[in-house]
Amino acid sequence: MTTALIILAAGKGTRMKSDLPKVLHPIGSAPMLAHAMRAGAALDPERVIVVAGHGAEQVQAAAEAYDPHAQVVLQEEQHGTAHAVAQARAALDGFSGDAVVLYGDTPFVRADTLTRMAEARRDHDIVVLGFEAADPGRYGRLIMAGDTLERIVEFKDAIDEERAVTFCNSGIIMADATRLMDLVARVDNDNAAGEYYLTDIVGLARSDGLSATAIACDEAETLGINSRAELALAEAAFQAQMRDDALDNGVTLPAPETVHFAFDTVLGRDAMVEPNVVFGPGVTVETGARIRAFCHIEDAHIARDAVVGPFARVRGGAEISEHVKIGNFVELKNAQLEEGVKISHLSYVGDAHIGQHTNIGAGTITCNYDGVMKHRTKVGERAFIGSNTMLVAPVSVGDEAMTASGSVITKDVEPGALAIARGEQVNKPGLARKLMDLLKTKKKKREQETG
Ligand code: UD1
Ligand code: CA
Repeated sequence: MTTALIILAAGKGTRMKSDLPKVLHPIGSAPMLAHAMRAGAALDPERVIVVAGHGAEQVQAAAEAYDPHAQVVLQEEQHGTAHAVAQARAALDGFSGDAVVLYGDTPFVRADTLTRMAEARRDHDIVVLGFEAADPGRYGRLIMAGDTLERIVEFKDAIDEERAVTFCNSGIIMADATRLMDLVARVDNDNAAGEYYLTDIVGLARSDGLSATAIACDEAETLGINSRAELALAEAAFQAQMRDDALDNGVTLPAPETVHFAFDTVLGRDAMVEPNVVFGPGVTVETGARIRAFCHIEDAHIARDAVVGPFARVRGGAEISEHVKIGNFVELKNAQLEEGVKISHLSYVGDAHIGQHTNIGAGTITCNYDGVMKHRTKVGERAFIGSNTMLVAPVSVGDEAMTASGSVITKDVEPGALAIARGEQVNKPGLARKLMDLLKTKKKKREQETG
């Protein structure tokens, strides 16, 4: 079935008490909107339409960052969920197939749940996703007669008998797109909230003689986020899920609860992540690689059998090849390290390419920034960079070359050469003792003067 997603994301999210639109608050370092878009991507949609309102420009940027083909439509004033869906009409022009309404603030719907809804659509004109609510609160109530969904009643409009129903509306609805547009156009706002309720389309469809049903999912999947407290709970749920998935996939996590994942973290089988590691976005760790304790890693690819940390910071498009060793207090940014490179201690390597089996000594720094522009450093294969070398970029060091420790390298070093760029050492016999004696005498004299 060809599908179009309509993701509602125009609401203000007043209870977040934030200048940031609610759907842009992050879970696992990605806006919750991206989670909703990813959930919907399971249906392989032909069109993705995001309805934006509050903070529309920012919402548009985030939607397009996740999916460049997403169409963002504006709902200037928020008159309710049916009114929001109606804004997708022009974006659906020429489309035939199913429309699936998702909420930008409901990030955890599972792919197989959406697939089950799509299956139920074979036998019903409208399929709604429901859940048994532990505390039904203000959710819309699904009024069922056997398998048939007769209507949805919003809490505000419900009578006591309806409020007693615990089978609730998640908000996710699937129907033929043309039919959905026809139904939302007929919804009115004659209700307790004075809003156009999307939920009213079920009653309208039933009186047209169409069929509707609801399928159930776990309440955790329909978790909606309205406050910072709920955001924190959502983050915890997301992290717990990522840890479980990693363990299931054959990753070793000796202290899983201390490892923090991002939305898109990929860890290969037999990878090992020691305690207190934080992954930002864009990290892939391949099979057999080991991330030692207390590392912070984002936007990086770590190949097989590499070792990173403890206490390393890796970011900005770092490419760590097989058998590379990165030790403590090393920072890498936009650095490509070929196979077998070693950077064992206390270094900053940024905007650099390091050839295979090169050793970078302790305290080495690529001086990549001149205050205005960034420059690249290139070090060849099997080179040896002495401890405390400053590589002032742009600069290159050839294959099998060496730099003397403490050097400030400002000129290219040809292959096989040894570069020494530091003040020459001079030893003055006896001068140290003489100097000490002089200072001690001075001190004594001063103490006598001040009594
Ligand atoms: C809605 C459902 C309710 C369901 C609940 C599940 C309706 C009328 N009610 O209620 O049955 O149990 O979700 O969480 O649909 N939005 C817009 N534009 C608008 C209004 C809302 O884009 O004009 C977006 C919001 O940003 C949000 C979503 O739609 O992402 C849901 O809106 P919200 O106001 O939170 O609906 P609820 O009152 O929670
Ligand atoms: Ca809500």
